[in-house]
Amino acid sequence: MRSAALKVCLCSALCLSLAVADASPLKRRAWITVGEAAFQQMQSVAPDTVSIASREMGKAGMSEKVHAVVMDENRLAAAAGAIHEKLGRCGGFMYHGSEAQARAALTLRRVVSVAPAYAIDQHQVVEPMLASMQEQRIASTITALSAFTNRYYTSQTGVDASNWLLSAWRELATRRDDISVTQLTHKGYPQASVMLTIAGSDLADESIVIGAHLDSILSFRMGETARAPGADDDASGVASMTEALRALIASGYRPRRTIHAIAYAAEEVGLRGSQEIARQFKEAGKEVAGVLQLDMTNYQGAANDIYLISDYTNSQQNAFLAELAGAYLPGLKVAYDKCGYACSDHASWDAQGYPVSMPFESSMARDNPHTHTAKDTLANSGGQAVHALKFARLAAAYLVELSSK
Ligand code: BES
Ligand code: ZN
Repeated sequence: MRSAALKVCLCSALCLSLAVADASPLKRRAWITVGEAAFQQMQSVAPDTVSIASREMGKAGMSEKVHAVVMDENRLAAAAGAIHEKLGRCGGFMYHGSEAQARAALTLRRVVSVAPAYAIDQHQVVEPMLASMQEQRIASTITALSAFTNRYYTSQTGVDASNWLLSAWRELATRRDDISVTQLTHKGYPQASVMLTIAGSDLADESIVIGAHLDSILSFRMGETARAPGADDDASGVASMTEALRALIASGYRPRRTIHAIAYAAEEVGLRGSQEIARQFKEAGKEVAGVLQLDMTNYQGAANDIYLISDYTNSQQNAFLAELAGAYLPGLKVAYDKCGYACSDHASWDAQGYPVSMPFESSMARDNPHTHTAKDTLANSGGQAVHALKFARLAAAYLVELSSK
């Protein structure tokens, strides 16, 4: 588990950002889903916080009562403060745009995905692809993204970063009419998510999704011009994903299933971009064979190389990733750990019933101490992208194996 002090920082950033973005003299309602213990703390500081629905959620041994709550948006920061103080942990609450969405987050999760084969039989394609991948390319993408003053979801530089990635991904896709790159705009804030799609050849209705978050944040005092380089959180994930895409496209590989790569807006303020996108996939009835989230890949804080996050993820797909690492990244050590709450965009896909995994850079006990500070720079992740390259390679192997059958 992360230290209590750091968690206070992370969660305060969320609440502060919501308060800053939506502060208004009028009482505005906010819809949140939150666990039982945290809900009780919220009620103690914001007595008009009301549970409109609740449900026992989670798997055997990990079940918790979760409430859909409506409250005064201006009380969010105080409520989060009470959670930190009394529970010593992040509330892990998800912010929803409407009552209907908060209620929907509680409904029974139905797995809509196709059942993937989870076979490893593409050695001829994958091995040369992995050999072509380069640490320096990942490092230069991290450098470019962290050069924006911040990539905050409401700031101009957050918009600029989205536009920069759009161009960078379009560069990868020249001379291929089966590849498109677009921005997905969001309601209520200007930063757009970016999506690259490689159309599948004969199973195009089924897709594989890989994602990382584009935005960055500074704990406390987040303003439009605050310095929040977010080199590890999560320029590293975007850069790992970008190098996997570059190698996959350069190899001439044509997937049978459609591949969507998405750089999500507004993760740091309640998984907002990814929730909207995952919900749209579900509403469109899209079949997704698997989802991979890369959030923080370049800081090696612990003895193992890759930690598969076991909560809000799919255990079969996690086991497949461990097998993929064994097959294609021999010598790397893979372990499991938990966030303990909905800590990144994987939770948005899990909430819609899609099988998702998140390979993480470190154990939670030894996570990057510079997260959400002005010191989250490439220099403070060792000055190169050696660790991130492992995740880029795992992602490339995953994309090929799942999209090829
Ligand atoms: N990348 C972090 C999550 C993280 C940080 C996981 C450190 C493990 C160790 C993510 O961007 C984040 O900051 N998440 C928020 C919660 C989210 C719902 C806003 C957090 O952890 O407070
Ligand atoms: Zn973060």
